[in-house]
Order: sequence, then structure tokens, then C-alpha cells
Amino acid sequence: MSEELLGVRDLKTHFAVRDSSPWFGACRILKAVDGVSFGIGRGKTFGLVGESGCGKTTVGRTILRLYRPAGGEIVFGGTDLAALSEREFFPYRRRMQMIFQDPFTSLDPRQTVGEIIGAPLSIHGLAPTRAARAERVRELVGMVGLRSDHIGRYPHEFSGGQRQRIGIARALASMPEFIVCDEPVSSLDVSIQAQIINLLEEFQERFGLTYLFISHDLSVVRHISHRVGVMYLGVMVETADVDELYGNMLHPYTKSLMSAVPTADPEIAKTRRRIILEGDVPSPLDPPSGCPFRTRCREAEGVCAERNPRLTDVGSGHMVACHKVELQRKTAGETRSPSFEISK
Ligand SMILES: Nc1ncnc2c1ncn2[C@@H]1O[C@H](COP(=O)(O)OP(=O)(O)O)[C@@H](O)[C@H]1O
Ligand code: SF4
Ligand SMILES: [Mg+2]
Repeated sequence: MSEELLGVRDLKTHFAVRDSSPWFGACRILKAVDGVSFGIGRGKTFGLVGESGCGKTTVGRTILRLYRPAGGEIVFGGTDLAALSEREFFPYRRRMQMIFQDPFTSLDPRQTVGEIIGAPLSIHGLAPTRAARAERVRELVGMVGLRSDHIGRYPHEFSGGQRQRIGIARALASMPEFIVCDEPVSSLDVSIQAQIINLLEEFQERFGLTYLFISHDLSVVRHISHRVGVMYLGVMVETADVDELYGNMLHPYTKSLMSAVPTADPEIAKTRRRIILEGDVPSPLDPPSGCPFRTRCREAEGVCAERNPRLTDVGSGHMVACHKVELQRKTAGETRSPSFEISK
């Protein structure tokens, strides 16, 4: 693996939320992210998948310190960002950027394209004169496939794909090393999605960018990622290199997610069994005991309600958090103890 640019260790992000009841409006703690760990090599893409509400966006925003972590480490280029004050963190803002899901709401409608893309240049002191700033804006606009005469226009004058190009140009303006791409193509037509993905891949190659690519589209994630993590209810349940994960998925949740992805391969389609994922993700305000997936898992057993399975390496960096997988490994003789009780 290439040098690790980002190492997230046991990351926790908790929100204080008010109970909806007007009479009993007490404050409760919502554990949106509750102990997530993964690493991203420099110049690589880590794909983060999972159903809506499982904490993907919160992970991305916490890494960028848009949310204060409740615990854990965010080691970026050797420095733990979680331990820095706002002032100490400021230089890292230039090095870490975000591309948002919705290009319709993430751009200020009152600013021209030139003002939107030029803002990071001013904030980070990257263009000493107006002429230098205008020149750099022109360059960025060209890089993302827009024209110079677009610079004076406003976001509402553009299509969804063009707006996402403006968002990408804004993210690139400060010459970052790392970008959180939060569902960057989810709101776009399929025909436009490929163009935006190609653009992101081109810039990764050209500038050695490192991406955290968040999506619920498993096909897109497979295409763009080097390594993939699957989240469920605030925790990581499985993570592996992309070919290993898609060829040898082990966690029951990953299997059900993947079984719903259409395949063009008739051989795979013949052998594949669709696993219907019933019900919704439980509320993080009231998570199940033991394994967070147990209320929807067809393979759940008694121990699953008692103990939370720990993310364990089952070989070559393939990590899984499931009692059953652990038991199967043990009975296959990979570990000495025959016990089901592996983790707390
Ligand atoms: N600012 C916030 N305040 C309170 N709860 C939040 C906030 N942001 C997200 N949440 C809650 O945290 C959980 C995870 O949300 P999110 O990270 O947006 O999930 P995803 O991106 O996977 O859809 C959800 O239950 C959501 O309602
Ligand atoms: S630990 Fe149990 S409930 Fe959780 S995924 Fe594995 S088998 Fe299912
Ligand atoms: Mg999200």
C-alpha cells in the first residue's frame, strides 16, 4: 500500500438532540458515528457505502472538522487533526476540501462562478493580485470543461452537471491533497454521472489526489475505489480492497446490499440470490443491543444480541465485524479457540 495520508482511528461523532415531545423535551445523545476506523493511501480512493442515515456524511464532515469529534483520531499526514485548536487547524483547511452531493444548494446563488471559485484563493492567500486571481479562475474553469464566458454567470444559469463542475473547480482552487466527495453524482442523470466520475479520476491522476468517495451506489464505488468500507448504524462492518470485497464479501449486511445491485454478467446473475433487506436502519437514538445489524440479519443468533462484534482482520487486510464469520473461521481451524466468544 502507498504511504497512508489519512488514518481514522475509533472516530466518534455524537450530536445532542432534543426529544420531539413538547413536554419531555430532554436532550439525548445521538451517536451518528460510533467508533469508525480506516486508512487511505496517498493518491488512492476509499469508497464509503451504506444505506441512508448510517453516518457516511458525518464521517466525511468530521474528518474536515466541520463537526467536532467526540473521540478518536484523525491522523492526516502524521498530525492528529482531532487534537488541534481551530487556529491550528486553519492551514489544513486548504489541504482538505469537499465536493457536495447537491450542486443546486451547495453553491451560493448570489455569487458568480468567478466569485465562487475565487473565494478559496482569497481565503488562503493564493492569488496576490486581482489579475493573478482572475487568471487562476480562468484556468480552473477550463480544467473542469467550462468556458471563460461562464465566469460572470450565476449558478441558476447552469445544468446539474455544470454546477457540479463548478463545485469541483472550487474544491481544486486551493490545491488540496485530499477531497471528501459526498455523493457527488447521486443527483445527476446517469449520462452525466460518467463525465463527472471521469473528471474526478483525471484530477486524481494529474494531481495525486486522495479521495474519500461517499455513495450508496455500489457500482460507482466499485469503479472508482481502491478500497471500500461498508457502514451500518454508525459503525464500519466490513472493509477490504475493492476486488476482495466485491469477490468475497463476508458480512451479512454487505451481502444483502450487493445482492440488490443489477449485474450484466449472466453467469453471476444465474447464481446470485437476491436477499431482501427488510425494514429500515434502526434509529441511532435507540440502537439494538449487541450487533447493530441483528434486527435485520437472517443469520443472527443468541450471542448477536449480547455482544458487539469487533472489526477483525480475516486476512490480507479484509476486516469484518460479525460473530458468525469469526465462528466459521475458528471452526475452519484458523484460530485455536473453538469458542463463540470473541469480542466485547
Ligand atoms: N447535525 C446533526 N444533528 C443531529 N443529528 C444529525 C446531524 N447530522 C446527521 N445526524 C443524524 O446522524 C445520522 C447519520 O446521518 P448522516 O451522516 O447524514 O448519514 P448518511 O450520510 O449515511 O445518510 C442520522 O440519523 C442523522 O439524522
Ligand atoms: S454478528 Fe450476528 S447479527 Fe451481526 S451480522 Fe453477524 S450474524 Fe448477523
Ligand atoms: Mg449523506
